[in-house]
Parts: sequence; structure tokens; C-alpha cells
Amino acid sequence: MFMEKMKDLKVTWNMTRYEVDEVEGIPLTKKMCDRWNETWAFQAKPDDLLIATYAKAGTTWTQEIVDMIQNDGDLEKCKRASTFERHPFIEWVLHEHTPTGFTGVEQAEAMPSPRTLKTHLPVQLVPPSFWEKNCKIIYVARNAKDNLVSYYHFHRMNQIMPEPGTWEEFFEKYLTGKVLWGSWYDHVKGWWEAKDHYRILYLFYEDIKENPRREIQKVLQFLEKDLEKEVLDKIIHYTQFDIMKENPMANYTTLPPEILDHSISPFMRKGIVGDWKNHFTVAQNERFDADYKQKMAGTSLTFRMEL
Ligand code: A3P
Repeated sequence: MFMEKMKDLKVTWNMTRYEVDEVEGIPLTKKMCDRWNETWAFQAKPDDLLIATYAKAGTTWTQEIVDMIQNDGDLEKCKRASTFERHPFIEWVLHEHTPTGFTGVEQAEAMPSPRTLKTHLPVQLVPPSFWEKNCKIIYVARNAKDNLVSYYHFHRMNQIMPEPGTWEEFFEKYLTGKVLWGSWYDHVKGWWEAKDHYRILYLFYEDIKENPRREIQKVLQFLEKDLEKEVLDKIIHYTQFDIMKENPMANYTTLPPEILDHSISPFMRKGIVGDWKNHFTVAQNERFDADYKQKMAGTSLTFRMEL
């Protein structure tokens, strides 16, 4: 397993924040850009399931829901390893202080099928084999304002993400798309268009929050799984925010504080819809709304910023 391997290799967590470069205009860590050819050449298999999101849209939550479905609600099986060990993050390349065996691609290649994989890539950067093999993909989107707030706090606590700067500075960076994985606006719109052409289930964080039973049933249908009501109840229970927050295999506390410093801001931070109201000034909100209107003009995609 990943953590054991790290210990065996006596990896020192001498971490520094990642440098950023670009692939086709999309900011990614320099490490990811350097090994981009390997990511692009990744060989998906027809029974791979891909969970795709813009960062902080509810990826981990969806991963837990999917894993519980795949394991028929058996919590112990889902606790076999941390989220990031269960589901390879295909474009991820770890820090230079770690040996080369830790790219998401290598992790995926070492995993038996059927595999569930994770990505934050915008649709145009998804390795072509996923389309060629007609893989099932679950995409989860979260409203831009809460996504921004969550991303800001994640940059603060994640010691290998680029410096977020002040809240005001990060706010501006997010609007211009100069953050890792690029523009939220292009991401959600690109995947929205793709869903009409490929096997993509497009879900919303707000919908799952509002009615997890209804949304988990959509996932069940998409995965062609049928579960007893009691199993579904169990999945709903164990994937609630408060329960997942206490689950070390789902709350990212197995990573060392040199990478994720939960004392700055926990990974499982608030898990609500509308926290942006505690962060946006009136002026920022007006500026955001005007810019949003322009960037989202002409799409049928709509979001709820509160429930
Ligand atoms: P907040 O920072 O707003 O709390 P990702 O997994 O894509 O990195 O997203 C992380 C965000 O999803 C965090 O948002 C986290 O708290 C939230 N989250 C994780 N599990 C959740 C759950 N079970 N219910 C609701 N939100 C959850």
C-alpha cells in the first residue's frame, strides 16, 4: 500500500509548494506537466469507472458513495485503505522527493480491474482511451461560489498546493481561471456538453446534499446495481458529512501534516451549501455575479447557490 511503501522507502516529507506550469493553457503542477505524455497515453479499460470533478466539488464524497455501492454497503471493506489508495488519481504526480513509482498512472496500472479512477482534468484533457473504451464517468459539479471558498481553504491547508495569497487575491485568481486545473466555468460547461455524447452521469453537490437517497439511486441505476433498502440506508448514513469526517479512511488524516495540515483548516471542513455568504463581501458578490453572468451566458447549465 502507498503509505507503507513510503515508509519502507524512508521518504522524508520535505515538502515545498508545487510549481505550476501549463498543458494546453490549463495550469497544472509542473510535475504533472513534465509527465503529461504518460497521462495522455493512459490506457483505460472498458470496465473502468472514472469519477471526474473540478477540485473541491465533492470528489471524496462521491468516491465514498461509489465505493460503498461497489462493496454492497460493507463499511469494513471500504475501510481497507484511504480514499487516495482505493481510487488512483490519474494525472497526479507526487513530489520530487518521492521516488517515481507514485504517479496516478502507475498506481492505476498496478490495480486489478474493475478499477475506479479519479480525475480533475477538464474534459478536453481526459486521456482519449476513456472515450475510445466508452468508459462510464460520474461527473460532480458544485456551485462556483462554494467551490471557490472550499478551494481557498484547501490551498491554505494543503502545503504542496501553490500559495493561495490572501482571500482577495485568491478570489481574483479563481475568476480568471489561473488556478490548478483551470477555470471552473470552462470545466463545468465542457463536461456538461460532453454528457450528451458519452456515458456520463452529471450530478450536483447541492442535489446530493438536498436529497442523498434520490441522487444515490441515480448512481445505482447508472452502475446497473440493485441494492436492498437497508443497504441503501446504510450507505446514506455512512456517507453523511459528520460520519465521514470521523472516518480516517475518508477524511485524509492518514497523510502527514507536512502535506495536509488539518490544524489550519480540516479537509472535511464544513460540507454545506451557502458557506460563501460567510466569505464574500457585498462588493465581491456583485463583481462575481456580473462576471458569472457573462461566463455562463448561452449554457443551459444552472446551479443553486443555496438550498
Ligand atoms: P468544504 O470545504 O466546503 O467543507 P473534494 O473531495 O472534491 O476535495 O471536496 C471537498 C469538499 O467536499 C469539502 O467542502 C468537504 O467538506 C466536502 N465534503 C466531503 N465529504 C462530504 C460529505 N459527506 N457531505 C458533504 N460535503 C462533503
